[in-house]
Amino acid sequence: MCCFGSFLLHRNQLRRKSWLMIRTILIHPDPRLKKSCDPVSEITQEVHLLAADMLETMYDAPGIGLAAPQVGVMRRVLVMDCIKDGPPRPMVLINPTVVWSSEDLTTYEEGCLSIPEQYAEVKRPAEVKVQWTSLDGSTQEEQFSGLWATCVQHEIDHLDGKLFIDYLGPLKRQMITRKMEKLKRERARGV
Ligand code: NI
Repeated sequence: MCCFGSFLLHRNQLRRKSWLMIRTILIHPDPRLKKSCDPVSEITQEVHLLAADMLETMYDAPGIGLAAPQVGVMRRVLVMDCIKDGPPRPMVLINPTVVWSSEDLTTYEEGCLSIPEQYAEVKRPAEVKVQWTSLDGSTQEEQFSGLWATCVQHEIDHLDGKLFIDYLGPLKRQMITRKMEKLKRERARGV
């Protein structure tokens, strides 16, 4: 019984690997990263597949958060897992909204999978309460603090076409944008 169970689990893992897909992450500047996304009206098989692929893509990158527009899907879906040590906590948030923000602010050095190797300090509310729909269709609410709070705000910004560099001064933002344009040119040439 025990062996049979583990065999099934093994087979299941193999099957999962075969249908999960690491999707291409868009690099800034890209018009799709500047657009507001549409809400998900129905949790279809396609949404389940998108969420599974996004988690796979995020862990592979590796990153702690990823929003659907970063893989070119203009829907309000994000994934995140901010656990550094210990068992993973893969989270899928559909149509997330911030329903409360603390007055206390906190500063984190942020980065973004769509702006590789660029980091800058961004000030945001230290704690936020977020409401969302989970993959099973139920409404969830949780109060986030620390890195989780920063991450969820950063990812929700993506769903509204906003990047962390939009919080920086114009000179710093232009400098990073020019670096990304150069990176994209190099990648296109296969450098
Ligand atoms: Ni990002």
